[in-house]
Amino acid sequence: MSERAVRLAQAGGPEVMQIQAVEVGDPGPGEVRIRQRAAGLNFIDIYQRSGVYNLPMPSGLGMEGAGIVEAVGEGVTHLKPGYRVAYASNPIGAYATARVLPARCVVRLPESLSFEQGAAMMLKGLTVQYLLRKTLPQGGLQAGDFVLFHAAAGGVGLIACQWAKALGLRLIATAGSDAKCELALRHGAAVAINYQRDNFADRVKEITGGEGVKVVYDSVGASTFEGSLACLRAFGLMVSFGNASGVVPPVPIGALAAKGLYLTRPSLFQHLSSREATQAMADELFSMVHNGSVKIEVEQRYALDDVQQAHRDMESRSTTGASILLLN
Ligand SMILES: NC(=O)c1ccc[n+]([C@@H]2O[C@H](COP(=O)([O-])OP(=O)(O)OC[C@H]3O[C@@H](n4cnc5c(N)ncnc54)[C@H](OP(=O)(O)O)[C@@H]3O)[C@@H](O)[C@H]2O)c1
Repeated sequence: MSERAVRLAQAGGPEVMQIQAVEVGDPGPGEVRIRQRAAGLNFIDIYQRSGVYNLPMPSGLGMEGAGIVEAVGEGVTHLKPGYRVAYASNPIGAYATARVLPARCVVRLPESLSFEQGAAMMLKGLTVQYLLRKTLPQGGLQAGDFVLFHAAAGGVGLIACQWAKALGLRLIATAGSDAKCELALRHGAAVAINYQRDNFADRVKEITGGEGVKVVYDSVGASTFEGSLACLRAFGLMVSFGNASGVVPPVPIGALAAKGLYLTRPSLFQHLSSREATQAMADELFSMVHNGSVKIEVEQRYALDDVQQAHRDMESRSTTGASILLLN
């Protein structure tokens, strides 16, 4: 039976995404076939579609989804047909009604979570897990510490606001409008700065009494990088994990010297290198949702046929929180 999937023949604007009929075969050894209910929309999809990150063409798109297992290949023991599952992983190709992928990337979705939530939380929630729990400054983070989190009203951002609050951190949010700042505050940010209007580095200095923050989590990239370094206190950690405004130009290493700063450029997919690591991170995310610390809300839903509009909305900064594609 043929399925429907987004395919790209080359990199470019949203119009390069075309829906095509595709054949999805049986899973091979170590693989699983999933009938997908929903796929997550993520900013990484935009980097890949537009050519900021190079994909071998032709290609599918999408790295996050949820659905029901239809078939498992030889050697797969943790999943069975009929299981509800979710994932954030390579290979690319989540914008599809059904797909085959390595079973080690796929976890069972707790009954209490909908497929929509599964598709909205895996890539974004596991990212927040590794950022706030594993990407830490010297001496770690303690309750009461200030951290700065850019684009805090976005998909990753709203989960980070909630998780940081549960850890007792004082998360200083930035966002591109007053309404987005309000949203970040409602999700647990201690303070919010509209960085389209105010100089965020000056505001952070005021808020922290001149000291600066222990960590900056910066996914905005080119337009914020320099200001972010200025927000850090001595021996602080700069976490550059995205480039929504453009790729960060090469950094002269001496820029870190005055304050003895640490700089890292992490990727979720390094953290998901084994089935055990993926499951452990997912278990922690699911427990944060179960105990009520983190609520997973879907702010924008799109039909597969409207995928081009979904990308236009994300790129133009008109979305907040998580966006998903509805598939079956
Ligand atoms: N390295 C990793 O492991 C990893 C994993 C997941 C996500 N990420 C990164 O985390 C970021 C958030 O991902 P997401 O999927 O949740 O997206 P998102 O935050 O929902 O959307 C990106 C946000 O970036 C802000 N932004 C600032 N300048 C922008 C510009 N010039 N153009 C477009 N947006 C701009 C916008 O918020 P404002 O209007 O409020 O500024 C926009 O809503 C992305 O950069 C993504 O690549 C990295």
